[in-house]
Amino acid sequence: MEIVIAQDAAAGARAVADEFEQVLRAGDGAVLGLATGSSPVAAYAELIRRHREEGLSFAGARAFLLDEYVGLPADHPQSYHRFIREQLVDHVDLDSSTVISPDGAAADPAEEAERYDAAIAAAGGVDLQILGIGVNGHIAFNEPGSSLASRTRVVALTRSTIEANARFFDRAEDVPRHALSQGLGTIREARRIVLTATGEQKAAAVAQLVEGAVSARWPATVLQLHPHVTVVVDEAAASRL
Ligand code: GLP
Repeated sequence: MEIVIAQDAAAGARAVADEFEQVLRAGDGAVLGLATGSSPVAAYAELIRRHREEGLSFAGARAFLLDEYVGLPADHPQSYHRFIREQLVDHVDLDSSTVISPDGAAADPAEEAERYDAAIAAAGGVDLQILGIGVNGHIAFNEPGSSLASRTRVVALTRSTIEANARFFDRAEDVPRHALSQGLGTIREARRIVLTATGEQKAAAVAQLVEGAVSARWPATVLQLHPHVTVVVDEAAASRL
């Protein structure tokens, strides 16, 4: 696991964008793993800048999202699919029809989870997965207690995650209680992973991620078992290392 402690938010965003640039320039047909939440937004903005000013191209790439709320169709204003379009896809030359998310409106969410896992495998797996981390160490929506081998599935959100995500909704009651989430076993199959976190509130989770025992109590610790992970943090998020 490589740890990059960035001087400021812009330097962190550049370090994450560098990982994407390497994969995109390595050849056609890159499969990107995209994440929502506020953590990756600065890196997406840097990628948009490189696309506009430096000709970085996403043509031919495909993407899979980590997770989606159960009950929200792809065009819902708070859906993760909509979020990723607004924060990245609509501003670069990535064909939005090749950006796939779990279908939150599927009639049978459990069946949709299986289909999604199979779709990632059929695409040849993810070349580079970007991740944020929750204050309780969750990645995607794999809350503490998730099996380290878990696959894409329907998960119940914890109260702390519902509260943390309520800022994106008009009312806390509107936050969905369930999500479709790639499992820890699914995420681990990505060939490269870059996790980014900023701020003091992530310091405990980052310390566990880097130095804690591998355990379902802190789901992100599973990344210690992965051969190619880069963790990009600011000084506040690194303050307990
Ligand atoms: C959500 C998402 C995660 C994200 C986490 C942290 O629960 N499902 O993918 O990493 O929140 O979000 P933020 O980056 O906004 O702190």
